[in-house]
Amino acid sequence: MSNLVLSCIAKRRSHRKYLNTPLTEEQIATLIAAAEQAPSAVNRQPWHLTVVEDAAIIQDVHDACKREVMKQPENQRSSARYQNPEFQVFYHAPCVFFFSCDDSRYAQTDVGIAVQNVCLAAQSLGLGTVILGLPRDAFAGEDKQRLEKQLCFPEGYQFMLAISIGHPDDTKPPHTVREGLVTRIP
Ligand SMILES: Cc1cc2nc3c(=O)[nH]c(=O)nc-3n(C[C@H](O)[C@H](O)[C@H](O)COP(=O)(O)O)c2cc1C
Repeated sequence: MSNLVLSCIAKRRSHRKYLNTPLTEEQIATLIAAAEQAPSAVNRQPWHLTVVEDAAIIQDVHDACKREVMKQPENQRSSARYQNPEFQVFYHAPCVFFFSCDDSRYAQTDVGIAVQNVCLAAQSLGLGTVILGLPRDAFAGEDKQRLEKQLCFPEGYQFMLAISIGHPDDTKPPHTVREGLVTRIP
């Protein structure tokens, strides 16, 4: 069985290299609409989306992340990738969506659903994405308040996930599926 939705689900990958080509206004508006159309528990919509194309702001969040991670003992760092001076947590994507949310019961789930809506919509537009949890480190340290203000998080909202979005410049096979992931009870 095949249709556009199934094909986008099957073809989506996490992309970690992007061309230096900005998204069009129409693409960004379409992706924002995909987030807005996501379901949420009791229709609370308990998240906020901040869309950033300014490379200096994106780099600033990366720098804050790296500063925090480098404070941690080497064997406890959230990612060993910071050792590589070339590594940027946003992979130099031309556009990053930052999702923050409140602490209500299903807020994190609601963010996840909106995030996947954006990723599949991006796939349907021929764009690539990667979902990012690692930027959380930037919002856990001394830059927390400054960055939350700069990214316009509403009062009481915390960073939850980001998505790097752009024209992919890499290819990747589909991920392998862990054994025992599914049980069917006839
Ligand atoms: C909640 C979540 C957080 C993630 N955080 C990161 C991240 O910070 N950096 C990164 O490179 N990939 C991140 N990923 C991407 C996963 O590594 C990726 O989805 C997984 O390896 C499967 O590969 P695929 O997306 O190509 O199928 C994240 C994915 C999810 C769902």
